[in-house]
Amino acid sequence: MDRFVITGPCRLSGAVRASGAKNAALPALAACLLTDEPVRLARVPQVRDIHTFLRLLAHLGVGHQDAEGELLLTPCGARRSADEAPYEVVKTMRASVLVLGPLLARHGHARVSLPGGCAIGVRPIDQHLAGLEALGAEVRLEHGYVDASAPRLRGARFRFAVPTVTGTENLLMAAVLARGQTVLENCALEPEVEDLAALLTAMGARIAGVGTPTLVIEGVESLGAARHEVVADRIEGGTYLIAGAMTGGDVTLVDTRPADLAPLIAKLAETGARVEVGERSIRVQGSGRLRASDLTTAPHPGFPTDLQAQFLALLTQAEGESAVCETVFENRFQHVPELNRMGAEIRVEGNTAHVHGGTPLSGARVMATDLRASACLVLAGLAAEGETVVDRIYHLDRGYEQMEIKLHRLGGRVERTASTS
Ligand code: EPU
Repeated sequence: MDRFVITGPCRLSGAVRASGAKNAALPALAACLLTDEPVRLARVPQVRDIHTFLRLLAHLGVGHQDAEGELLLTPCGARRSADEAPYEVVKTMRASVLVLGPLLARHGHARVSLPGGCAIGVRPIDQHLAGLEALGAEVRLEHGYVDASAPRLRGARFRFAVPTVTGTENLLMAAVLARGQTVLENCALEPEVEDLAALLTAMGARIAGVGTPTLVIEGVESLGAARHEVVADRIEGGTYLIAGAMTGGDVTLVDTRPADLAPLIAKLAETGARVEVGERSIRVQGSGRLRASDLTTAPHPGFPTDLQAQFLALLTQAEGESAVCETVFENRFQHVPELNRMGAEIRVEGNTAHVHGGTPLSGARVMATDLRASACLVLAGLAAEGETVVDRIYHLDRGYEQMEIKLHRLGGRVERTASTS
C-alpha cells in the first residue's frame, strides 16, 4: 500500500491544470451504455475510480481503447446482454449505481448491488429508486440487490425529495430513452449534472432546463455516437487553490471554469487571500496571516462538501475562531482527530467543527478514511513543520490524478513510497 511522505513547511507557487472531473467522467461512462455507437471522451482523468468503472463497463458489454489521448468507448458485442453490476464492484465504488438507469432504459432490466453505507455517511439511494418507479419500473430489493425491470420506461413527473447528484444523473439517463415526456423537479444543480446533459444532448437526447432545478426530457427511440470533453475537476482544482492560500503561496489554476468555483473563491477572499479571476483561470496568493471564516456546506451553488475537509485544513492556519457546518453528509469529520494530532485545535459538536485557528502544525504519521479527508491531510502536511506520512494513499488515488507530481511541480516536497507496515 502506498503512502506519501511530505516534508514541510513549503510555499507552493506556479501554475496547475486540473484534470477532467472524476464525478463528471463517471456518469459520462455510464451514458455509453445507452448507445450501440462509439462515444469518444476527452479529458478523462486517470484515477482508480475510472479504471474500476471501465472494468464494470467491459463486463456490461462496452469496451474501451485509447485514441490519441482520448478514450474511445465501443460496444464490444460479447457480453451485450449482461445487465448486472455485482457486489464486488459496487462495494469498492458507490458510483457503480450509475449503471442502473441506463441499463434499465436500454435492456428493460437491471440488477445492481445495493451500495450500502460508506465512511462519510449512510448514503441511501431511495430517490433513485422512487424516480425509476415513477417512470414505470418495477423495483424489488432482494439478496442485497436492486432488481428493476420495465419493458419500456414511460415519461412521468417526479420530484426529488432531496437534490441528489447521482440520483439526478441516473434518472436523466433513464428518461432520455423513455416513451414521452419526463419532468424532473428539484434536480441537483452541480456542474457535473450539466456536463452529463451536454453529452446526452450530443448523443441525440432532447433535454430542456439544463442548469435549472427542473429538467424536461422528451424521450427518443435511440442515441448515437458523440464526442465530449469532460469538464475540469472543480474539486481537484479547488484543492490546489486552497493549498496555495494555506502555504502563503501563489498558485494559478489554468484551463478551468471559474464560475464552478465561485463559492470557494468567495471563501478564500474572506480569509484574506488575494484572488484574481480570469476568463479560464484563478490565481490565489496567500498574503500574510489568514483570517478565520465560518462555512456551511450545501448543494451547488453552495460550498461543496467535497472541499470541506481541505478548507478545514486551511482554517487551522487562519487566525481566530471558525465554525464549519457540514449539512450534506452526516459523518464527514473523520479528518479532525488526525488534524488535531498534528497540532490543530478543532472540536466537533454535532455537525459543526469549531476551529481555534492559527496554531502551528507539526508533521506526524496520519491515516485517512476517505478521498477528500486524505487530501486534507496532505494539505496539512505541506503547511506543517517536519515530516508527515499520510498512509493509505489508495483513497487519494481514487480521485486525484498524479497528485504528488502536480504538487512537486508547485514546489511541494511530496514523495510516494511503498508502505512497509
Ligand atoms: N440522498 C438521499 N437519498 C438518495 C440520494 C441521496 O437521502 O436517494 C442524500 C444523501 O444521503 C446526502 C444527500 O442526499 O445526504 C446528497 O447526496 P448525493 O446523492 O447528491 O450524493 P452522491 O450523488 O452519492 C455525489 C458525488 C460525491 C459528492 C456528493 C455531493 C459522485 C460520483 N459522487 O455523490 O462525491 O460528495 O455528490 O456533492 O458524483 C467525492 O468525490 O469524494 C464524493 C463523495
